Amino acid sequence: MAGHDKSEWQHAQVEWNSVSAVRVGIIGLGNVGGGTLRLLRNNASEIEGKLGFPLEVSAVCSRSVLTNPSEAVSLHPKALRTPDWREVVESPDVDIVAELIGGTGSAKQIVETALAGGKPVVTANKELLAEQGPEIWQRAAGNGATLGMEAAVAGGIPVLNVLREGIAGDGIDALIGILNGTSNYILTEIERTGAAFDQVLKEAQDLGYAEADPSADIDGYDARSKLAILAAMAFGEQVSPRDIPLQGIRRIRTIDFAYAGRLGHTIRLLATARREPNGLRLAVRPALVERNTILAGVMGSYNALWVHGRGGDTFYYGKGAGPDPTGVAVVSDLMAAARDLRQAGGSVQRVQPFGHTRLSPHRPVSSGTEERQFYLRFRVRDRPGILAALASKLAEQGVGIEAVLQEPHFDKQDLPFVATLEPARRAAVEKAVETIKGLDFLVDEPLALTLEPTLAAA
Ligand SMILES: NC(=O)c1ccc[n+]([C@@H]2O[C@H](COP(=O)([O-])OP(=O)(O)OC[C@H]3O[C@@H](n4cnc5c(N)ncnc54)[C@H](OP(=O)(O)O)[C@@H]3O)[C@@H](O)[C@H]2O)c1
Repeated sequence: MAGHDKSEWQHAQVEWNSVSAVRVGIIGLGNVGGGTLRLLRNNASEIEGKLGFPLEVSAVCSRSVLTNPSEAVSLHPKALRTPDWREVVESPDVDIVAELIGGTGSAKQIVETALAGGKPVVTANKELLAEQGPEIWQRAAGNGATLGMEAAVAGGIPVLNVLREGIAGDGIDALIGILNGTSNYILTEIERTGAAFDQVLKEAQDLGYAEADPSADIDGYDARSKLAILAAMAFGEQVSPRDIPLQGIRRIRTIDFAYAGRLGHTIRLLATARREPNGLRLAVRPALVERNTILAGVMGSYNALWVHGRGGDTFYYGKGAGPDPTGVAVVSDLMAAARDLRQAGGSVQRVQPFGHTRLSPHRPVSSGTEERQFYLRFRVRDRPGILAALASKLAEQGVGIEAVLQEPHFDKQDLPFVATLEPARRAAVEKAVETIKGLDFLVDEPLALTLEPTLAAA
Protein backbone atom coordinates (compact mmCIF):
# COMPACT_ATOMS: atom_id res chain seq x y z
CA MET A 1 0.00 0.00 0.00
CA ALA A 2 3.03 2.23 -0.06
CA GLY A 3 2.21 5.49 -1.74
CA HIS A 4 -1.56 5.01 -1.42
CA ASP A 5 -3.80 6.17 1.40
CA LYS A 6 -6.68 3.98 2.58
CA SER A 7 -9.39 5.85 0.71
CA GLU A 8 -7.42 5.61 -2.53
CA TRP A 9 -7.08 1.89 -2.02
CA GLN A 10 -10.82 1.50 -1.27
CA HIS A 11 -11.57 3.52 -4.35
CA ALA A 12 -9.32 1.24 -6.37
CA GLN A 13 -11.14 -1.81 -5.00
CA VAL A 14 -14.51 -0.40 -5.99
CA GLU A 15 -13.19 0.37 -9.44
CA TRP A 16 -11.69 -3.07 -9.74
CA ASN A 17 -14.97 -4.70 -8.64
CA SER A 18 -17.09 -2.71 -10.98
CA VAL A 19 -14.70 -3.37 -13.84
CA SER A 20 -14.52 -7.05 -13.12
CA ALA A 21 -18.13 -7.84 -12.20
CA VAL A 22 -19.83 -10.07 -14.72
CA ARG A 23 -23.26 -8.63 -15.37
CA VAL A 24 -26.38 -10.71 -15.75
CA GLY A 25 -29.80 -9.87 -17.13
CA ILE A 26 -32.72 -11.86 -15.72
CA ILE A 27 -35.79 -12.24 -17.94
CA GLY A 28 -38.75 -13.75 -16.09
CA LEU A 29 -39.20 -12.83 -12.45
CA GLY A 30 -41.66 -15.47 -11.27
CA ASN A 31 -40.87 -18.51 -9.12
CA VAL A 32 -37.49 -19.27 -10.62
CA GLY A 33 -36.52 -15.68 -11.51
CA GLY A 34 -37.46 -14.50 -8.01
CA GLY A 35 -35.47 -17.31 -6.38
CA THR A 36 -32.50 -16.50 -8.60
CA LEU A 37 -32.58 -12.81 -7.66
CA ARG A 38 -32.75 -13.62 -3.95
CA LEU A 39 -29.85 -16.07 -4.14
CA LEU A 40 -27.72 -13.66 -6.16
CA ARG A 41 -28.23 -11.13 -3.40
CA ASN A 42 -28.08 -13.35 -0.32
CA ASN A 43 -25.14 -15.47 -1.48
CA ALA A 44 -23.24 -12.63 -3.15
CA SER A 45 -20.15 -12.93 -0.96
CA GLU A 46 -19.92 -16.75 -1.36
CA ILE A 47 -20.37 -16.37 -5.11
CA GLU A 48 -17.64 -13.76 -5.29
CA GLY A 49 -15.39 -15.88 -3.08
CA LYS A 50 -15.77 -18.82 -5.43
CA LEU A 51 -15.46 -16.88 -8.67
CA GLY A 52 -12.92 -14.29 -7.64
CA PHE A 53 -15.21 -11.56 -9.00
CA PRO A 54 -18.82 -10.55 -8.33
CA LEU A 55 -21.93 -11.36 -10.31
CA GLU A 56 -24.02 -8.26 -10.68
CA VAL A 57 -27.66 -8.10 -11.76
CA SER A 58 -27.65 -5.28 -14.29
CA ALA A 59 -31.15 -5.75 -15.79
CA VAL A 60 -34.42 -7.45 -14.88
CA CYS A 61 -37.45 -7.99 -17.08
CA SER A 62 -41.02 -9.16 -16.82
CA ARG A 63 -44.14 -7.72 -18.40
CA SER A 64 -45.30 -6.38 -15.03
CA VAL A 65 -41.94 -5.27 -13.62
CA LEU A 66 -42.77 -1.56 -13.85
CA THR A 67 -46.33 -1.83 -12.58
CA ASN A 68 -45.93 -4.54 -9.96
CA PRO A 69 -42.28 -5.21 -9.10
CA SER A 70 -41.73 -8.06 -6.67
CA GLU A 71 -39.75 -7.85 -3.47
CA ALA A 72 -36.97 -9.85 -5.14
CA VAL A 73 -36.58 -7.09 -7.73
CA SER A 74 -36.07 -4.50 -5.01
CA LEU A 75 -33.00 -6.45 -3.82
CA HIS A 76 -31.21 -5.19 -6.94
CA PRO A 77 -32.07 -1.46 -6.94
CA LYS A 78 -29.47 -0.51 -9.55
CA ALA A 79 -30.70 -2.98 -12.16
CA LEU A 80 -32.47 -1.65 -15.25
CA ARG A 81 -36.15 -2.59 -15.06
CA THR A 82 -37.95 -3.17 -18.32
CA PRO A 83 -40.95 -5.06 -19.65
CA ASP A 84 -39.18 -5.43 -23.03
CA TRP A 85 -36.84 -8.44 -23.12
CA ARG A 86 -35.00 -7.01 -26.13
CA GLU A 87 -33.66 -4.19 -23.98
CA VAL A 88 -32.04 -6.77 -21.72
CA VAL A 89 -30.69 -9.00 -24.45
CA GLU A 90 -29.29 -6.09 -26.45
CA SER A 91 -27.95 -4.09 -23.51
CA PRO A 92 -24.16 -3.57 -23.58
CA ASP A 93 -24.37 -3.82 -19.78
CA VAL A 94 -25.60 -7.41 -19.85
CA ASP A 95 -22.92 -10.09 -20.32
CA ILE A 96 -25.09 -13.18 -19.65
CA VAL A 97 -28.83 -13.62 -20.24
CA ALA A 98 -31.04 -15.83 -18.06
CA GLU A 99 -34.28 -16.85 -19.81
CA LEU A 100 -36.73 -17.75 -17.04
CA ILE A 101 -40.11 -17.10 -18.63
CA GLY A 102 -40.83 -20.61 -19.96
CA GLY A 103 -42.75 -21.77 -23.05
CA THR A 104 -41.58 -21.92 -26.62
CA GLY A 105 -42.71 -18.51 -27.93
CA SER A 106 -40.91 -15.42 -26.61
CA ALA A 107 -38.51 -17.69 -24.72
CA LYS A 108 -37.20 -19.08 -27.98
CA GLN A 109 -36.72 -15.60 -29.40
CA ILE A 110 -34.89 -14.49 -26.27
CA VAL A 111 -32.51 -17.45 -26.36
CA GLU A 112 -31.87 -17.16 -30.09
CA THR A 113 -31.35 -13.41 -30.03
CA ALA A 114 -28.95 -13.59 -27.11
CA LEU A 115 -26.93 -16.40 -28.68
CA ALA A 116 -26.88 -14.62 -32.03
CA GLY A 117 -25.27 -11.70 -30.21
CA GLY A 118 -22.67 -14.09 -28.76
CA LYS A 119 -24.07 -13.82 -25.22
CA PRO A 120 -24.11 -16.88 -22.98
CA VAL A 121 -27.60 -18.04 -22.07
CA VAL A 122 -28.82 -19.81 -18.97
CA THR A 123 -32.30 -21.29 -19.13
CA ALA A 124 -34.62 -23.43 -16.99
CA ASN A 125 -36.89 -24.13 -19.94
CA LYS A 126 -37.28 -27.92 -20.31
CA GLU A 127 -40.03 -27.57 -22.89
CA LEU A 128 -37.91 -25.48 -25.24
CA LEU A 129 -34.80 -27.60 -24.72
CA ALA A 130 -36.63 -30.88 -25.23
CA GLU A 131 -38.18 -29.57 -28.46
CA GLN A 132 -35.23 -27.67 -29.85
CA GLY A 133 -32.23 -28.19 -27.60
CA PRO A 134 -29.82 -29.50 -30.24
CA GLU A 135 -30.65 -26.65 -32.64
CA ILE A 136 -30.17 -24.14 -29.85
CA TRP A 137 -26.92 -25.78 -28.89
CA GLN A 138 -25.67 -25.61 -32.51
CA ARG A 139 -26.64 -21.96 -32.59
CA ALA A 140 -24.73 -21.36 -29.36
CA ALA A 141 -21.66 -23.15 -30.72
CA GLY A 142 -21.86 -21.24 -34.01
CA ASN A 143 -21.87 -17.95 -32.17
CA GLY A 144 -19.20 -18.91 -29.65
CA ALA A 145 -21.65 -18.62 -26.76
CA THR A 146 -22.37 -21.03 -23.93
CA LEU A 147 -25.67 -22.59 -22.97
CA GLY A 148 -26.48 -23.49 -19.36
CA MET A 149 -29.54 -25.63 -18.65
CA GLU A 150 -29.10 -27.44 -15.36
CA ALA A 151 -32.32 -26.01 -13.93
CA ALA A 152 -34.40 -27.58 -16.69
CA VAL A 153 -34.31 -31.12 -15.29
CA ALA A 154 -34.87 -32.09 -11.66
CA GLY A 155 -34.51 -28.49 -10.37
CA GLY A 156 -32.02 -28.58 -7.55
CA ILE A 157 -30.47 -31.97 -8.34
CA PRO A 158 -27.49 -31.40 -10.65
CA VAL A 159 -28.20 -34.46 -12.76
CA LEU A 160 -27.21 -32.91 -16.07
CA ASN A 161 -23.82 -32.03 -14.70
CA VAL A 162 -23.49 -35.57 -13.39
CA LEU A 163 -24.30 -37.14 -16.77
CA ARG A 164 -22.29 -34.58 -18.72
CA GLU A 165 -19.15 -34.74 -16.60
CA GLY A 166 -19.42 -36.57 -13.27
CA ILE A 167 -19.99 -40.03 -14.73
CA ALA A 168 -19.06 -39.30 -18.34
CA GLY A 169 -16.61 -42.20 -18.21
CA ASP A 170 -19.39 -44.73 -17.72
CA GLY A 171 -21.53 -46.46 -20.32
CA ILE A 172 -25.12 -46.03 -19.21
CA ASP A 173 -27.59 -48.87 -19.69
CA ALA A 174 -30.68 -47.52 -17.96
CA LEU A 175 -32.19 -44.54 -16.20
CA ILE A 176 -35.25 -44.46 -14.01
CA GLY A 177 -36.45 -41.08 -12.84
CA ILE A 178 -39.17 -39.59 -10.73
CA LEU A 179 -39.02 -36.26 -12.51
CA ASN A 180 -42.29 -34.52 -11.73
CA GLY A 181 -42.70 -33.39 -8.14
CA THR A 182 -46.39 -32.51 -8.52
CA SER A 183 -47.35 -36.00 -9.66
CA ASN A 184 -45.20 -37.56 -6.99
CA TYR A 185 -46.81 -35.36 -4.37
CA ILE A 186 -50.28 -36.38 -5.53
CA LEU A 187 -49.46 -40.09 -5.65
CA THR A 188 -47.75 -40.16 -2.29
CA GLU A 189 -50.54 -38.12 -0.66
CA ILE A 190 -53.13 -40.59 -1.96
CA GLU A 191 -50.93 -43.36 -0.60
CA ARG A 192 -50.42 -41.64 2.78
CA THR A 193 -53.94 -40.38 3.43
CA GLY A 194 -56.18 -42.67 1.39
CA ALA A 195 -57.87 -39.55 -0.04
CA ALA A 196 -59.34 -39.52 -3.53
CA PHE A 197 -57.32 -38.30 -6.54
CA ASP A 198 -59.49 -35.22 -7.20
CA GLN A 199 -59.36 -34.12 -3.56
CA VAL A 200 -55.56 -34.44 -3.42
CA LEU A 201 -55.19 -32.61 -6.72
CA LYS A 202 -57.31 -29.74 -5.37
CA GLU A 203 -55.22 -29.59 -2.20
CA ALA A 204 -52.05 -29.57 -4.30
CA GLN A 205 -53.49 -26.64 -6.30
CA ASP A 206 -54.44 -24.77 -3.11
CA LEU A 207 -50.92 -25.26 -1.74
CA GLY A 208 -49.37 -24.02 -5.00
CA TYR A 209 -47.81 -27.41 -5.85
CA ALA A 210 -50.03 -27.87 -8.88
CA GLU A 211 -50.99 -25.35 -11.56
CA ALA A 212 -54.62 -24.34 -12.15
CA ASP A 213 -54.24 -26.33 -15.38
CA PRO A 214 -52.44 -29.40 -14.04
CA SER A 215 -52.19 -31.23 -17.35
CA ALA A 216 -48.44 -30.75 -17.97
CA ASP A 217 -47.72 -32.42 -14.66
CA ILE A 218 -50.36 -35.09 -14.19
CA ASP A 219 -50.60 -36.12 -17.83
CA GLY A 220 -46.83 -36.61 -17.92
CA TYR A 221 -45.78 -33.98 -20.49
CA ASP A 222 -43.35 -32.27 -18.11
CA ALA A 223 -41.63 -35.54 -17.19
CA ARG A 224 -41.52 -36.47 -20.87
CA SER A 225 -39.66 -33.27 -21.80
CA LYS A 226 -37.16 -33.94 -19.03
CA LEU A 227 -36.69 -37.53 -20.14
CA ALA A 228 -35.96 -36.39 -23.71
CA ILE A 229 -33.17 -34.15 -22.38
CA LEU A 230 -31.79 -36.87 -20.10
CA ALA A 231 -31.84 -39.42 -22.91
CA ALA A 232 -29.83 -37.12 -25.16
CA MET A 233 -27.37 -36.53 -22.36
CA ALA A 234 -27.00 -40.18 -21.32
CA PHE A 235 -27.27 -41.97 -24.66
CA GLY A 236 -26.27 -39.36 -27.23
CA GLU A 237 -29.52 -39.66 -29.20
CA GLN A 238 -31.67 -36.76 -30.31
CA VAL A 239 -35.06 -37.67 -28.91
CA SER A 240 -38.25 -35.80 -29.71
CA PRO A 241 -40.59 -35.83 -26.68
CA ARG A 242 -43.46 -36.76 -29.01
CA ASP A 243 -41.76 -40.09 -29.73
CA ILE A 244 -41.82 -41.10 -26.06
CA PRO A 245 -44.84 -43.24 -25.05
CA LEU A 246 -46.81 -41.40 -22.42
CA GLN A 247 -49.38 -42.25 -19.75
CA GLY A 248 -50.32 -39.87 -16.96
CA ILE A 249 -51.65 -40.50 -13.47
CA ARG A 250 -55.26 -39.30 -13.84
CA ARG A 251 -56.68 -42.82 -13.73
CA ILE A 252 -54.85 -43.91 -10.57
CA ARG A 253 -57.34 -44.44 -7.74
CA THR A 254 -56.96 -44.88 -4.00
CA ILE A 255 -57.85 -48.54 -4.41
CA ASP A 256 -54.82 -49.05 -6.67
CA PHE A 257 -52.56 -48.31 -3.70
CA ALA A 258 -54.40 -50.92 -1.65
CA TYR A 259 -53.93 -53.55 -4.33
CA ALA A 260 -50.35 -52.47 -5.05
CA GLY A 261 -49.68 -52.73 -1.29
CA ARG A 262 -51.01 -56.27 -1.22
CA LEU A 263 -48.49 -57.07 -3.93
CA GLY A 264 -45.66 -55.48 -1.89
CA HIS A 265 -45.55 -52.47 -4.23
CA THR A 266 -46.50 -48.82 -4.44
CA ILE A 267 -47.16 -46.60 -7.49
CA ARG A 268 -44.92 -43.92 -8.92
CA LEU A 269 -44.86 -41.99 -12.20
CA LEU A 270 -41.62 -43.26 -13.74
CA ALA A 271 -39.61 -41.84 -16.61
CA THR A 272 -37.56 -44.74 -17.90
CA ALA A 273 -34.85 -45.15 -20.51
CA ARG A 274 -33.18 -48.44 -21.31
CA ARG A 275 -30.54 -49.18 -23.88
CA GLU A 276 -31.42 -52.40 -25.71
CA PRO A 277 -29.64 -54.17 -28.57
CA ASN A 278 -32.09 -52.70 -31.12
CA GLY A 279 -32.33 -49.19 -29.78
CA LEU A 280 -33.55 -47.08 -26.92
CA ARG A 281 -36.70 -47.93 -24.95
CA LEU A 282 -38.19 -44.78 -23.44
CA ALA A 283 -41.45 -44.24 -21.60
CA VAL A 284 -43.21 -42.09 -19.04
CA ARG A 285 -45.83 -44.14 -17.23
CA PRO A 286 -47.15 -44.83 -13.76
CA ALA A 287 -45.89 -48.22 -12.61
CA LEU A 288 -45.86 -50.50 -9.63
CA VAL A 289 -42.56 -50.16 -7.78
CA GLU A 290 -41.46 -52.61 -5.11
CA ARG A 291 -41.97 -51.16 -1.66
CA ASN A 292 -38.47 -52.00 -0.46
CA THR A 293 -36.70 -50.12 -3.26
CA ILE A 294 -35.15 -46.70 -3.04
CA LEU A 295 -37.56 -45.25 -5.64
CA ALA A 296 -40.54 -46.22 -3.48
CA GLY A 297 -39.04 -44.08 -0.72
CA VAL A 298 -39.21 -40.92 -2.85
CA MET A 299 -42.08 -39.05 -1.27
CA GLY A 300 -43.87 -35.74 -1.70
CA SER A 301 -42.53 -33.25 -4.21
CA TYR A 302 -39.05 -34.79 -4.25
CA ASN A 303 -37.41 -35.96 -7.46
CA ALA A 304 -34.92 -38.76 -7.99
CA LEU A 305 -32.85 -40.27 -10.72
CA TRP A 306 -31.36 -43.72 -10.60
CA VAL A 307 -28.61 -44.41 -13.15
CA HIS A 308 -27.61 -47.95 -14.00
CA GLY A 309 -24.13 -47.72 -15.46
CA ARG A 310 -21.70 -50.45 -16.38
CA GLY A 311 -19.40 -49.03 -13.72
CA GLY A 312 -22.12 -49.31 -11.10
CA ASP A 313 -25.38 -47.77 -9.98
CA THR A 314 -25.77 -44.22 -8.71
CA PHE A 315 -28.81 -42.48 -7.29
CA TYR A 316 -29.58 -38.76 -7.10
CA TYR A 317 -32.26 -37.29 -4.91
CA GLY A 318 -33.52 -33.85 -3.96
CA LYS A 319 -36.05 -31.11 -4.55
CA GLY A 320 -36.99 -31.05 -8.20
CA ALA A 321 -38.67 -27.65 -8.27
CA GLY A 322 -39.32 -24.48 -6.33
CA PRO A 323 -37.69 -21.07 -6.31
CA ASP A 324 -34.67 -21.95 -4.17
CA PRO A 325 -33.62 -25.36 -5.53
CA THR A 326 -34.16 -24.24 -9.12
CA GLY A 327 -32.59 -20.86 -8.39
CA VAL A 328 -29.45 -22.63 -7.16
CA ALA A 329 -29.19 -24.45 -10.48
CA VAL A 330 -29.63 -21.18 -12.41
CA VAL A 331 -27.08 -19.31 -10.30
CA SER A 332 -24.56 -22.16 -10.60
CA ASP A 333 -24.96 -22.06 -14.38
CA LEU A 334 -24.54 -18.27 -14.33
CA MET A 335 -21.33 -18.75 -12.37
CA ALA A 336 -20.04 -21.34 -14.86
CA ALA A 337 -20.83 -19.02 -17.77
CA ALA A 338 -19.19 -16.09 -15.98
CA ARG A 339 -16.09 -18.15 -15.29
CA ASP A 340 -15.88 -19.09 -18.95
CA LEU A 341 -16.25 -15.46 -19.96
CA ARG A 342 -13.57 -14.32 -17.54
CA GLN A 343 -11.11 -17.13 -17.31
CA ALA A 344 -11.22 -18.53 -20.81
CA GLY A 345 -11.13 -14.98 -22.16
CA GLY A 346 -14.34 -15.63 -24.06
CA SER A 347 -17.50 -17.71 -23.99
CA VAL A 348 -15.87 -21.10 -24.50
CA GLN A 349 -17.82 -24.18 -23.46
CA ARG A 350 -15.39 -26.90 -22.44
CA VAL A 351 -18.03 -29.64 -22.57
CA GLN A 352 -20.94 -29.70 -25.00
CA PRO A 353 -24.31 -28.89 -23.37
CA PHE A 354 -25.65 -32.39 -24.14
CA GLY A 355 -22.38 -34.07 -23.18
CA HIS A 356 -21.63 -35.34 -26.70
CA THR A 357 -19.88 -33.74 -29.64
CA ARG A 358 -22.96 -34.59 -31.69
CA LEU A 359 -26.24 -36.43 -31.18
CA SER A 360 -27.22 -39.34 -33.38
CA PRO A 361 -30.78 -39.93 -34.58
CA HIS A 362 -33.11 -41.56 -32.09
CA ARG A 363 -33.53 -45.31 -32.56
CA PRO A 364 -36.72 -46.11 -30.64
CA VAL A 365 -37.72 -49.68 -29.98
CA SER A 366 -41.41 -50.38 -30.32
CA SER A 367 -43.18 -50.15 -26.97
CA GLY A 368 -45.25 -53.23 -27.91
CA THR A 369 -42.21 -55.47 -27.61
CA GLU A 370 -41.72 -54.70 -23.94
CA GLU A 371 -42.14 -57.87 -21.88
CA ARG A 372 -43.36 -57.31 -18.34
CA GLN A 373 -45.61 -58.53 -15.62
CA PHE A 374 -48.79 -56.45 -15.77
CA TYR A 375 -51.33 -55.32 -13.20
CA LEU A 376 -54.85 -54.99 -14.62
CA ARG A 377 -57.44 -53.24 -12.49
CA PHE A 378 -61.09 -53.65 -13.42
CA ARG A 379 -64.26 -51.99 -12.15
CA VAL A 380 -67.26 -54.14 -12.88
CA ARG A 381 -70.96 -54.64 -12.18
CA ASP A 382 -70.62 -57.99 -10.48
CA ARG A 383 -72.27 -61.09 -11.91
CA PRO A 384 -71.27 -64.70 -12.47
CA GLY A 385 -68.87 -65.48 -15.33
CA ILE A 386 -66.90 -62.21 -15.33
CA LEU A 387 -63.56 -63.80 -14.57
CA ALA A 388 -64.05 -66.46 -17.23
CA ALA A 389 -64.90 -63.78 -19.81
CA LEU A 390 -61.81 -61.75 -18.96
CA ALA A 391 -59.54 -64.80 -18.89
CA SER A 392 -60.82 -65.84 -22.29
CA LYS A 393 -60.13 -62.41 -23.85
CA LEU A 394 -56.62 -62.45 -22.40
CA ALA A 395 -56.03 -66.04 -23.54
CA GLU A 396 -56.98 -65.06 -27.10
CA GLN A 397 -53.83 -62.93 -27.06
CA GLY A 398 -51.77 -65.63 -25.37
CA VAL A 399 -51.78 -63.84 -22.01
CA GLY A 400 -52.30 -65.78 -18.78
CA ILE A 401 -53.63 -64.59 -15.43
CA GLU A 402 -51.22 -65.15 -12.55
CA ALA A 403 -53.46 -64.14 -9.62
CA VAL A 404 -56.70 -62.32 -8.84
CA LEU A 405 -57.06 -59.95 -5.88
CA GLN A 406 -60.33 -58.64 -4.55
CA GLU A 407 -60.75 -56.39 -1.52
CA PRO A 408 -63.98 -57.04 0.44
CA HIS A 409 -66.91 -54.70 1.17
CA PHE A 410 -67.30 -52.97 -2.19
CA ASP A 411 -70.57 -52.11 -3.89
CA LYS A 412 -71.41 -54.95 -6.29
CA GLN A 413 -72.42 -52.34 -8.86
CA ASP A 414 -68.90 -50.91 -8.89
CA LEU A 415 -66.59 -53.64 -7.76
CA PRO A 416 -62.85 -53.07 -8.22
CA PHE A 417 -60.57 -56.06 -8.51
CA VAL A 418 -57.14 -56.77 -9.92
CA ALA A 419 -55.61 -59.48 -12.05
CA THR A 420 -51.85 -59.80 -12.20
CA LEU A 421 -50.65 -61.34 -15.43
CA GLU A 422 -47.92 -63.77 -16.31
CA PRO A 423 -45.08 -61.88 -18.05
CA ALA A 424 -46.39 -60.81 -21.44
CA ARG A 425 -45.65 -58.45 -24.30
CA ARG A 426 -47.22 -55.02 -23.98
CA ALA A 427 -48.72 -55.32 -27.48
CA ALA A 428 -50.60 -58.49 -26.49
CA VAL A 429 -51.87 -56.98 -23.24
CA GLU A 430 -52.97 -53.77 -24.96
CA LYS A 431 -54.79 -55.74 -27.65
CA ALA A 432 -56.56 -57.83 -25.01
CA VAL A 433 -57.55 -54.67 -23.11
CA GLU A 434 -59.01 -53.23 -26.34
CA THR A 435 -61.29 -56.23 -26.74
CA ILE A 436 -62.16 -56.28 -23.03
CA LYS A 437 -63.26 -52.62 -23.20
CA GLY A 438 -66.37 -53.73 -25.12
CA LEU A 439 -67.64 -56.04 -22.37
CA ASP A 440 -70.91 -54.81 -20.90
CA PHE A 441 -70.16 -55.48 -17.23
CA LEU A 442 -67.31 -52.93 -17.10
CA VAL A 443 -67.93 -49.67 -15.20
CA ASP A 444 -64.93 -48.08 -16.89
CA GLU A 445 -61.88 -49.03 -18.95
CA PRO A 446 -59.39 -51.40 -17.35
CA LEU A 447 -56.23 -49.78 -16.01
CA ALA A 448 -53.01 -51.50 -17.09
CA LEU A 449 -49.77 -50.84 -15.20
CA THR A 450 -46.49 -52.71 -15.28
CA LEU A 451 -44.69 -54.12 -12.29
CA GLU A 452 -41.27 -52.50 -12.68
CA PRO A 453 -38.46 -55.00 -12.28
CA THR A 454 -36.22 -54.50 -9.25
CA LEU A 455 -33.42 -52.02 -9.77
CA ALA A 456 -30.70 -54.63 -9.91
CA ALA A 457 -32.56 -56.56 -12.60
CA ALA A 458 -33.20 -53.56 -14.82
N1 LIG B 1 -41.32 -23.35 -10.97
C1 LIG B 1 -40.37 -24.26 -10.84
O1 LIG B 1 -40.15 -24.79 -9.75
C2 LIG B 1 -39.52 -24.64 -12.02
C3 LIG B 1 -38.57 -25.68 -11.87
C4 LIG B 1 -37.74 -25.99 -12.93
C5 LIG B 1 -37.87 -25.31 -14.12
N2 LIG B 1 -38.83 -24.33 -14.24
C6 LIG B 1 -38.91 -23.62 -15.50
O2 LIG B 1 -38.56 -22.26 -15.26
C7 LIG B 1 -39.25 -21.41 -16.17
C8 LIG B 1 -40.01 -20.34 -15.37
O3 LIG B 1 -40.92 -20.99 -14.51
P1 LIG B 1 -41.63 -20.20 -13.29
O4 LIG B 1 -42.29 -21.26 -12.48
O5 LIG B 1 -40.66 -19.28 -12.66
O6 LIG B 1 -42.73 -19.38 -14.09
P2 LIG B 1 -43.64 -18.17 -13.53
O7 LIG B 1 -43.64 -18.17 -12.04
O8 LIG B 1 -44.93 -18.25 -14.25
O9 LIG B 1 -42.84 -16.88 -14.01
C9 LIG B 1 -42.73 -16.51 -15.35
C10 LIG B 1 -42.17 -15.10 -15.41
O10 LIG B 1 -41.94 -14.75 -16.77
C11 LIG B 1 -42.56 -13.46 -17.02
N3 LIG B 1 -42.92 -13.43 -18.42
C12 LIG B 1 -43.76 -14.27 -19.10
N4 LIG B 1 -43.79 -13.93 -20.39
C13 LIG B 1 -42.97 -12.88 -20.56
C14 LIG B 1 -42.57 -12.10 -21.67
N5 LIG B 1 -43.04 -12.34 -22.90
N6 LIG B 1 -41.69 -11.09 -21.48
C15 LIG B 1 -41.20 -10.84 -20.24
N7 LIG B 1 -41.54 -11.54 -19.15
C16 LIG B 1 -42.41 -12.56 -19.30
C17 LIG B 1 -43.72 -13.44 -16.03
O11 LIG B 1 -44.13 -12.20 -15.56
P3 LIG B 1 -45.17 -11.24 -16.28
O12 LIG B 1 -46.41 -12.03 -16.47
O13 LIG B 1 -45.28 -10.08 -15.37
O14 LIG B 1 -44.45 -10.89 -17.52
C18 LIG B 1 -43.06 -14.06 -14.79
O15 LIG B 1 -42.26 -13.11 -14.13
C19 LIG B 1 -40.12 -22.34 -17.01
O16 LIG B 1 -39.43 -22.68 -18.17
C20 LIG B 1 -40.29 -23.56 -16.12
O17 LIG B 1 -40.55 -24.74 -16.86
C21 LIG B 1 -39.64 -24.01 -13.22
